Amino acid sequence: MDKKETIEYFSRMENLEMVITKEEIQTKITDIATVINNDYADKDPIFIGVLNGSFMFMADLLRKIKLNCEVDFIKISSYADATRTSGTVRLIKDISADINGRHVIIVEDIVDTGLTVRFLKRRMQDSGTLSVEFVSLLFKETEASVGVKIKYVGFNIPNKYVVGYGLDYAQKLRSLESIYTMRELPPE
Ligand code: IMP
Ligand code: MG
Repeated sequence: MDKKETIEYFSRMENLEMVITKEEIQTKITDIATVINNDYADKDPIFIGVLNGSFMFMADLLRKIKLNCEVDFIKISSYADATRTSGTVRLIKDISADINGRHVIIVEDIVDTGLTVRFLKRRMQDSGTLSVEFVSLLFKETEASVGVKIKYVGFNIPNKYVVGYGLDYAQKLRSLESIYTMRELPPE
């Protein structure tokens, strides 16, 4: 199967509906990178990607960052099953960089309940950072996310489960280049 056929295959199989195209994502990333390049022009920030979901956004964003920056990753897990948050955050792999006295930019795929953001803020501030800001490609407008302040947001989206561009459904569909919702299957 070529790439187009693969996407068509997944779309049929999982009943996907495209909500943000790959072109829209790339345009938005260029805009965000321009703002960050400007805001951090006189700083050497460290970008910390939150695994697994942010790997694709992290790679595309960093390609457009023109700063003397560093890159690291942290891995955490908050999901109890395929689409439901467990309400607690587990640290699976910590950063290896020393962030004491550093300007940190955390790179997230999506903010849903804001639980992960709160957890990461605490983890970073405990390490004596100079500043901590978040950049998230998606921000889900949920009851729980009201009041969660994210400095750089790509797209505000309604409270629906989304997949693709790094985001998974039961660990699958991360490789899709656009972002999709999963349609409800009609009752049999
Ligand atoms: P939060 O802690 O509830 O804000 O959830 C954050 C994490 O849950 C994100 O970094 C994602 O990995 C995952 N997540 C939340 N909503 C979705 C979704 O709609 N699709 C895929 N993953 C999601
Ligand atoms: Mg994530």
